[in-house]
Amino acid sequence: PVANFSVGPDPPRFRPSYLQASTDSLKFPKGFLYGVSTAATQVEGGVKEGGRGPSIYDWGCHILPLFCNNENPDVTVNEYYQYKQDIQRVKAMGVTTFSFSIAWPRILPFGTKGSPVSEEGLKFYDDFIDELLKNGIEPVATLFHWDAPLNIVAQYGAFLNSSVVDDFNNYASIVFQRYGKKVKTWHTFNEPRVYCSFYAGFPYESKYPDGVNTTTAPFTCIPNIIKTHAVAVQTYRNLVSEGKIAKGKIALKHNGAKPVPFDPNSESDQEVVERVADLGVGIFSQPIYVDGNYPQRVLDTIPARILRRFTEEEKKIIKGSADFYAIDAYATGAAKTPPEGIEACASNMGDPNWPNCVDTSPAAGHSLATGWALGAAGDLITRGGADTSQLLRYQLNWLTTTYPSPGGIYITEFGFAEPFEAMLPELYQITWDERRSNYLLDYLNEALLAIHEDKIDLRGVFFWTPYDNFEWNLGTPVKYGLQHVNFSSPGLDRAYKQSFFQVRNFFEQHLS
Ligand code: NOJ
Repeated sequence: PVANFSVGPDPPRFRPSYLQASTDSLKFPKGFLYGVSTAATQVEGGVKEGGRGPSIYDWGCHILPLFCNNENPDVTVNEYYQYKQDIQRVKAMGVTTFSFSIAWPRILPFGTKGSPVSEEGLKFYDDFIDELLKNGIEPVATLFHWDAPLNIVAQYGAFLNSSVVDDFNNYASIVFQRYGKKVKTWHTFNEPRVYCSFYAGFPYESKYPDGVNTTTAPFTCIPNIIKTHAVAVQTYRNLVSEGKIAKGKIALKHNGAKPVPFDPNSESDQEVVERVADLGVGIFSQPIYVDGNYPQRVLDTIPARILRRFTEEEKKIIKGSADFYAIDAYATGAAKTPPEGIEACASNMGDPNWPNCVDTSPAAGHSLATGWALGAAGDLITRGGADTSQLLRYQLNWLTTTYPSPGGIYITEFGFAEPFEAMLPELYQITWDERRSNYLLDYLNEALLAIHEDKIDLRGVFFWTPYDNFEWNLGTPVKYGLQHVNFSSPGLDRAYKQSFFQVRNFFEQHLS
C-alpha cells in the first residue's frame, strides 16, 4: 500500500499525520526497543585519557580547525566523566536501551594487530555498560563510528587499504570477547556510505587520472568496509558458537533513503530515484542481504576499475552477514533529471546524495515524518511542504521488501536539528522545542501505522540524540538533543527540553 509520491510544484497544504490518524490505542509490539543513540567522538571527550590514541577526526579538527567549526572532539559533552549522571537522566525518559559507539583508538591506541591494548580503555566501556545494565537499560554497541586510529591512517590509509581487514578484525575480536556476555546487539559500522564519501579519503584524496569526476576514495573504501564487516561478523558468530560469548545479533547501520520523483510521470526521474537508491543504500545492502553482489545498476554504471568486484569467495561470506536490518532514517529529497540528461548524475558518484540529480534543498528535501522541508543536517525550514506525510512508511516498505531480514528492521537513528536553538547564546537555554516535539511524535505515529497497517516488522527506534553534542564538521551549533547542553558553563550543564517529556509520555502510552 505504498502511495506514489511526488513533490512537484504547488504542494497541497501540510497537515501532520498525528492530526489525521488516530493511533491512540495502537501499541508497539512486545520487546520493542525504545532507545537513544550517541557516538564516541560526539559525546565522550577525554580524548587523551587512559592512553587513548588520536583518531583521524581529532587530528583533522586540530590541523584544519575551520573544517570543524573551530571546535574539536577534545571535550564535547564530557560524557567520559559524566556518564553516570547522563545515564540517570536518560533513564528518566523510560528508555529500554542505549546505543553508543566504542572508540577504536581507546582500545588500541595504535589501531594495529599486535600493538598494545589499553586496559583502561577497555575498563571505561566495562563501567559504562555495567552502569546501563544496573539501571535496567540494554546496551547496543557500534564498533566503528568514523573514528579511525590516526596511526592506521598514517601507515596505510585506513579503509583505503585492504590491510584494514585484519586490523579491524583483531579490534573487533578483542571487543566481542570483552563485552560479548553483556552486550547482545552489535553494529559493525555506522553509516559507512557517509564515512566513505566524506571522510575516508582524508588526507589521501586523489582524483582518477582519466577524467572521471570523482575522488577515488569512496569507491576504494566501500568494498573494504563491506569485506571488513563480513569478516568481523564471521568472528562474532564463531565466538558465539564456541560458547565464548552470549548469543546475540549483529548488523551494520545503513543510512540513506529512497528519494521521491520530482515528476512521477517522468520515466527519467523514476530512473534517477532507482539509481540513487541503489548507489546510496543498495551498494551496501544488496551484497549483505541479497546476493553478495552490488545492485545491477551499480555494476552497469560504475566500472570495475573504480569499484572493485567481489570474488566468489568474498561473496559467500558477505551474503547473509547480518542478523537484522538497521537504518538511520532522517530525510529524503526529490529526484530530478538534470537538463543535460541522466548521465550527468554520474559525475558526482562519490556523493550518495548525487547533488546533480537529487534536490535536497529546503524546497524539495523532506523529512521522513512530516514531509516538511529540511535543510542541511536536518534543520527544518518553516516552509510547509508536499503531502508526503507517509514518507517513513514508503521507506520502510521499500527497505523491507528489497532487503528482507528475518531479524526485522530497526530505526537506529532519527532526530531533528532545530536551528533556532543555536541562535541565542547557550545561557538562554532554549528548551521549548515545539517543532522537534511535533516532528518526533509525528514520526512515531507513522512508525505505529507502519507496524499496524503495513505489517512492517519494526522492532525498535533510537532517538538521535539524548543531549546536544558535537555534530562533526558543523560543531556544537547543530542541536539534535532531547536535552540542552550549556557549552559555556563549566559543568556543561544539561537541561531537559520539552521533547524529552513528550517522548516519554508517548512511550508510556504506547509501549506494550
Ligand atoms: C548520523 C550520524 O550517525 C551521526 O553521527 C550524526 O550526528 C547524525 N546522523 C545527525 O546528523
